[in-house]
Amino acid sequence: MSARFTTLGRYPTTRLRRNRGEGWSRRLVAEHKLSVDDLIWPVFVQEGANSRTPVASMPGVDRLSIDLFAEAAKEARDLGIPAVAIFPETDPAAKTPDAREAYNPGNLVCRAITAVKKAVPDIGIICDVALDPFNSDGHDGIVRDGRILNDESVEALVKQAIVQTEAGADIQAPSDMMDGRIGAIRTALDAKGYHHEQIMSYAAKYASAFYNPFRDAIGSSGALKGDKKTYQMDYANSDEALREVGLDIEEGADMVMVKPGLPYLDIVRRVKDTFGVPTYAYQVSGEYAMLKGAADRGWLDWNKVLIETLTGFKRAGCDGILTYGAVDAARLLKSK
Ligand code: PBG
Repeated sequence: MSARFTTLGRYPTTRLRRNRGEGWSRRLVAEHKLSVDDLIWPVFVQEGANSRTPVASMPGVDRLSIDLFAEAAKEARDLGIPAVAIFPETDPAAKTPDAREAYNPGNLVCRAITAVKKAVPDIGIICDVALDPFNSDGHDGIVRDGRILNDESVEALVKQAIVQTEAGADIQAPSDMMDGRIGAIRTALDAKGYHHEQIMSYAAKYASAFYNPFRDAIGSSGALKGDKKTYQMDYANSDEALREVGLDIEEGADMVMVKPGLPYLDIVRRVKDTFGVPTYAYQVSGEYAMLKGAADRGWLDWNKVLIETLTGFKRAGCDGILTYGAVDAARLLKSK
């Protein structure tokens, strides 16, 4: 052996490239694997029949009428996707300051839940609990004199969670960030005998500029007055996320979520390491728009960045990911 190697530390005894040399070896040493079981597909629904409307700021994503949503849910189930999350575009005429449409048992969400449950009984249905699709102020809670009222909002959220559960939803996912809502919803569900219906708490949800395309999709961006910084978290904070998650678990959350996703993987890791509970992240609309928008211009390879980012979520400690790319990812994983 040539003497020149002796000056380079442990090289060549230790060569980390050895395990990377062949595809079969890379597969053998892979630490994390993305599977279709990790995917939750968020879907936007609209009124009407046999109709779809492209969401301009989310290329490739359409808002679907309930019948098309039921068909799409069947497809998702056939691909092996465990669950869908429903987000409604509410008729502006139905939006009021008290957001009462949120707990109208005949609202678009409830009809969508019932239709999908009937068409595809074996896919999980997750529903947001928040008032922003129904509130004329575009806020997640009830606004009075420019303030978002906590306890009054929680009362409305509890009613919303109940009608959604009665319609057949499996998981209530409070995304409103009011204090105490998890405990209030758990208590109300149990009082009604819904002991098995789960709660996935948007526990560490940050006030983020990455939600804009979502607000376009559900038609709340025009309505929104001000920002959501008095209830959603400051992105400068990390310890506070652990307090939020800890409280939600104490109050009865079965699963917790961090949101947005990619810029917050450090939070995912801390939450998973601290609590060891089922932990999810939401690859939100702005993250999707960034990747898809660049891919559509030929600057990124969509399939590759999708799988890379989703695997990154797994590596950070996620048990699953909400992603608008769920169907694409499921197809890619199947064809592999
Ligand atoms: C509503 C809600 C939002 C998202 C999910 N639920 C937006 C917001 O808080 O303003 C964002 C999802 C996304 O951007 O994809 N409470």
